Amino acid sequence: MEKNQIPAHIGFIMDGNGRWAKKRLMPRNYGHSKGADVFKKCIDWCKELGIRCATFYAFSTENWSRPDDEIQGIMNLLRRYIKDIRDTVEKENRIIILGDISRLDEDIRNDLIDLQEISKNNTRFIVGIALNYGGRPELVRAVKQISQDCVSGKISPDDISEELVEKHLYTSEMPPLDLIIRPSGEKRLSNFLIWQAAYAEFVFMDVLWPDFSKKDLEYAIAEYAGRNRRFGGI
Ligand code: FPP
Repeated sequence: MEKNQIPAHIGFIMDGNGRWAKKRLMPRNYGHSKGADVFKKCIDWCKELGIRCATFYAFSTENWSRPDDEIQGIMNLLRRYIKDIRDTVEKENRIIILGDISRLDEDIRNDLIDLQEISKNNTRFIVGIALNYGGRPELVRAVKQISQDCVSGKISPDDISEELVEKHLYTSEMPPLDLIIRPSGEKRLSNFLIWQAAYAEFVFMDVLWPDFSKKDLEYAIAEYAGRNRRFGGI
């Protein structure tokens, strides 16, 4: 495959954990736990396939409406993951968190801030983890920051451009989003990277996230490579 046929940045909507567990008469958190295993493997697959950045939708602003034990289950997976990756992170992956982490437990919050800091000079691969993330809240946050700069006189409204807005998004230091993969048969964006998805390709797949494999990733990339991206041209 040519280099420009490999997406630089893929967004993953890790959907279907609950249904996967239900099919096995197991609790939903069992599905999330398997989903977290796939998340870890998927980072390696992306690297093996020459992708530079992957962003994973781990917890949306809407997910707080789930039962408390499910929320705690996901947070505990995150805790465990943070402990597991410290070594590898220091070597090659840069971690960028997307979302408002102020609502997360203090230990997780501090560890995430730490992880971002110690990994910030790693260039091999960027792992984006969307936590308490929503695309609309991300845009509201950008609008507030830009308004502050207008009020303080740092910039004038005429300075506001697409490039400036992008500087205020969580993805400002990531390559442009080329592809969004959503398994589980659902065909919607669910408030994920709504600005960034403007010119992304979408691949929807029937596989449930805990069953997602390297072959599925390869299929999605081949599908992407076969698309004719015109960016509004002809
Ligand atoms: C959507 O599936 C999945 C989530 C809301 C949680 C995703 C979280 C993980 C895979 C664990 C993340 C862990 C780390 C370490 C980042 P769903 O529960 O909505 O599935 P359903 O639609 O089948 O019910």
